[in-house]
Amino acid sequence: MADAAGDEPHEHLAPPRLRKVELAEPKAGEVLVRLVACGVCHTDLYTASGADPSGYAPTVLGHEGAGVVEKVGDGVTSVAAGDHVVTLFSPQCRECVHCQSDRTNLCLAIREQQNQGSLPDGTARLSLDGEPVRHFMGTSTFAEYTVMPEIALAKITPEAPLDGAALFACGLSTGIGAAMNTAKVEEGSTCVVFGAGMVGLGAVIGCRLQGAGRIVCVDLSEERLKLATAHGATETMVGGADTVERIVESTGGFGADYTFEATGNVKVMRQAVESARMGWGLCTVAGVAGKGETLDIVPRFLITGRRVAGSSFGGVKGRDGVPVLVDRWLAGDIDAESFISHRITLDQVNEGFELMERQDGIRSVIEFS
Ligand SMILES: NC(=O)c1ccc[n+]([C@@H]2O[C@H](COP(=O)([O-])OP(=O)(O)OC[C@H]3O[C@@H](n4cnc5c(N)ncnc54)[C@H](O)[C@@H]3O)[C@@H](O)[C@H]2O)c1
Ligand SMILES: [Zn+2]
Ligand SMILES: [Zn+2]
Repeated sequence: MADAAGDEPHEHLAPPRLRKVELAEPKAGEVLVRLVACGVCHTDLYTASGADPSGYAPTVLGHEGAGVVEKVGDGVTSVAAGDHVVTLFSPQCRECVHCQSDRTNLCLAIREQQNQGSLPDGTARLSLDGEPVRHFMGTSTFAEYTVMPEIALAKITPEAPLDGAALFACGLSTGIGAAMNTAKVEEGSTCVVFGAGMVGLGAVIGCRLQGAGRIVCVDLSEERLKLATAHGATETMVGGADTVERIVESTGGFGADYTFEATGNVKVMRQAVESARMGWGLCTVAGVAGKGETLDIVPRFLITGRRVAGSSFGGVKGRDGVPVLVDRWLAGDIDAESFISHRITLDQVNEGFELMERQDGIRSVIEFS
């Protein structure tokens, strides 16, 4: 049995609540993980609220987990009982055509099953009163225990505290990776990051690690801009209708070498495109827009040399890349702890959602005793 926050079917959508659900033993290629910490993220709230068109219920939410392997199913070789792991909503099978390419991290192995909330064999290990319960994002980490595919677990050093490690399961790796993997920011370059939440601050860190010369962070909140400075932004700017003008002006009339969008607002995405330098400016979009929204770009911006790239999980191939980022955290290159603003228990998950809606702190992390 596992304690889990599940939600009602859509037609009777209610806030997530704590339920005891059944969790079956891991099958071949699967792993039983005991969660130690889990971040509360917008994506969980989006689905819990019923706004997510691809959402399903009942499900156990949660996707920013870190924990310890309890038991492995047949054929599992890359992790063993006692290993410390970070959960990956973006798996890495190492065999599909995308895993074998260094141009993308979008593993193809279990996309369909994951989208439907099942494990790779098409079934669920979670159930409630004999009825199957879906595995949200293939992770379902708002729970004391979860069963996950082996290919969706990154083995990390046991020296890493698991509360900080959980942050690398989503937003932090997304932001850092957007700068390091997707944009491949060059030393000495000028970067502009729109948004100073977990993803934007991660992008600021990634730009700093790449040796950027100038890192301008744009947000609406002065408080968040202070955090951006602490993580390496060299300049900050309160966003507004004239943001593009101000950036172009402060870059000799050209725009920035690299821009990053981490707000999810399509108007800001447009600003990020228009703030990129003519000739070679690259705009990396990490924010997730609302259903049906489109990004408006005047084609002239592209003809004159700007490029636009999208980035999912920062282009990080999770099993290989997350352990490296965790090591950089332990080496002092990344200050992960500072993102944990609230520590809560599993039964406080709805308070975690409320804190997030009020923009109170960057991340609430659930700790399991
Ligand atoms: N691509 C991926 O794999 C991936 C992974 C995780 C999250 N995301 C997405 O990234 C986005 C950011 O996530 P987050 O957790 O950092 O969110 P967040 O809400 O914590 O941060 C967003 C920030 O944008 C700022 N903002 C809002 N409007 C703005 C404006 N007009 N100008 C400047 N700043 C503005 C807000 O003040 C806030 O600080 C979301 O859309 C999220 O869904 C994408
Ligand atoms: Zn997340
Ligand atoms: Zn793959």
